[in-house]
Amino acid sequence: MIIYGIGTDIIEIDRIKKAMERYPGFVDRLFTADELAYLEGKALSPQHVAGGFSAKEAVLKSIGTGLRNFKWKEIEIIRDVKGKPFVRLNGKVKDYADGNYIGDIHITISHSRNYATATAVAEISIEKRWMDIESMLVGANEMRGRSIN
Ligand SMILES: CC(C)(COP(=O)(O)OP(=O)(O)OC[C@H]1O[C@@H](n2cnc3c(N)ncnc32)[C@H](O)[C@@H]1OP(=O)(O)O)[C@@H](O)C(=O)NCCC(=O)NCCS
Repeated sequence: MIIYGIGTDIIEIDRIKKAMERYPGFVDRLFTADELAYLEGKALSPQHVAGGFSAKEAVLKSIGTGLRNFKWKEIEIIRDVKGKPFVRLNGKVKDYADGNYIGDIHITISHSRNYATATAVAEISIEKRWMDIESMLVGANEMRGRSIN
């Protein structure tokens, strides 16, 4: 595995709790339907919402961008059957990852009474890079063929 970047984040759970109370659309703006299904299973408790948010921030740091013109929902934190979180990218974040040969992004989340934290590790995708090189070679060969004929 070759590491592209790492990212970490820590957040005060009370800050998220207050945002949820103040803005009724807060969780809908941040989380996709699959993420919400998981969080609703946890009664939308602020510690889990904070963990999910922190994970998205950690992912943004691991790819080195910050939020920029990306949308929060383009980074999904979903769970496997055992409850382990993993990252699924969509939309512009996925395009950015593909364009920069970023492969899997590993994520881990933790929370205590007051804080939630997350750490992300983004891998370089040799496969994506190789596919790009291959398509460039095909393009170059086609150009060569055309100039010969
Ligand atoms: C990069 C980003 C994720 C940092 O997160 P943050 O919550 O603002 O700040 P944090 O304290 O967690 O992290 C700050 C650290 O991130 C690191 N950082 C800054 N830009 C970074 C980047 N492009 N890639 C990776 N790490 C970066 C720096 O080390 C910084 O510490 P420093 O200022 O001491 O050097 C942030 O700029 C961002 O895009 N956040 C989302 C925007 C937003 O709306 N947040 C609030 C919503 S309620």
